[in-house]
Amino acid sequence: MAKLKLGVLGSGKGSNFRAIADAIARGELDAEVCIVISDIADAGILTLARERGIRAEFVHPGRFRTKMEPDREHHLAQLLRDAGADFVVLAGYMRMVKAPLLDAFPRRIINIHPSLLPAFPGLDAWKQAVDARASKSGCTVHYVDSGMDTGEIIARTEVPVLADDTPETLHARIQSAEHNLYPAVLAQLTARAPR
Ligand code: GRF
Repeated sequence: MAKLKLGVLGSGKGSNFRAIADAIARGELDAEVCIVISDIADAGILTLARERGIRAEFVHPGRFRTKMEPDREHHLAQLLRDAGADFVVLAGYMRMVKAPLLDAFPRRIINIHPSLLPAFPGLDAWKQAVDARASKSGCTVHYVDSGMDTGEIIARTEVPVLADDTPETLHARIQSAEHNLYPAVLAQLTARAPR
């Protein structure tokens, strides 16, 4: 049976992408990453993809800060389609997703967010948790809709917030949880997806 193909979008260092690629290499996730795309030309995630022989593309986002310009997002969607992506996996992609991409991949775009949604949506969720003196936080994998971290929740992992946590120490603990949760959720989704 043909493997399901994942198109990965990211703006940062790519540790979640690495966890996904490693899970595939270990045989724990029956899928393949067909393309990695970033809105940041020198993002670490593109380097990690190239090191693994995976196609890596930079797409200039245009002049907006929080989303892509519509024609740029059309181009992004076309690249994903041409690469044969079945699912679009957001892994530290720092822009809102809008109609061009949402319409091209209905209920096929997944994100991981570093809090227990619906708590602490938006930027620097780990800092929000420390500032709010929350006793717990974690990470959430969810479908992407047009809102800010509002799509249907698929799975969450809880981590404690310790009394002496800084935003950085909490983020590191959350990221460890992310690296287990994201490949596991993708394995479940891809196992039951029609192909
Ligand atoms: C992760 O904490 C993820 O939850 C958030 O952005 C961060 C990306 O980290 N959306 P990385 O680039 O995967 O290391």
